[in-house]
Amino acid sequence: KVYPGQNEASVDVANRIATIIKQKQEKGETAVLGLATGATPVRVYKELVRLHKEEGLSFSNVVTFNLDEYYPMKPDADQSYVTFMNKNLFDHIDIPKDHINIPDGTLPQEAIQAFCEAYEHKISSLGGLDIQILGIGRTGHIGFNEPGSAPNSGTRLVILDDLTRRDASRDFGGKENVPTKAITMGVGTIFKAKEIILMAWNEKKAEIVKKAVEGEISADIPATFLQLSDKVEFVLDEDAASQL
Ligand code: GLP
Repeated sequence: KVYPGQNEASVDVANRIATIIKQKQEKGETAVLGLATGATPVRVYKELVRLHKEEGLSFSNVVTFNLDEYYPMKPDADQSYVTFMNKNLFDHIDIPKDHINIPDGTLPQEAIQAFCEAYEHKISSLGGLDIQILGIGRTGHIGFNEPGSAPNSGTRLVILDDLTRRDASRDFGGKENVPTKAITMGVGTIFKAKEIILMAWNEKKAEIVKKAVEGEISADIPATFLQLSDKVEFVLDEDAASQL
């Protein structure tokens, strides 16, 4: 779906999330949201905060799972995805703190596999993700599933692509300060969500969006795996859609 601008698109995505939350509330159930970081979803979070503050949308029945976190990464570091989520969403809504799940960037290496298995288990024990929102990296990554990721991959420790680290270098004051690894939900984890929305804005994303939507399905561009699912929607602004 192509929108004139990212504002309208983001408001629509936020409304879809709000509808899921309210439907679950009516049934006395938990809404399980898969969340993303990066510049792309910021306005969706802004609109969710507005819906909370101005229209009384409650997040008390919401449980969230973030896609990824750098490794190693302290939660209180400026660049951590914990800090990002708190600043952009969690600090401004009524979600109980113990409903928030973000991969733990402080674990010793030998504890990561068990953590990742528990992360997967926790998602499925809640009935799976009702919706997963995604951005896309210029390598074609979703979450931090870099080129080479398998379609059935699970939550795991990954090595970041050089282009991804270059794109993140501004946040870290130089590429050399960007962690070389991350913990990410897998492509297979994302695929299990009941609904998947990939958002992309700006000309900068046009080339990778074209490859993701129209290119040959291949682990070289993990986002192409999304073509295999009918639960996926691409939500784009005109600039990101300009090469389609
Ligand atoms: C980061 C995140 C991804 C995100 C992507 C795009 O590396 N791990 O989940 O989709 O980069 O970022 P942005 O939205 O800032 O363009």
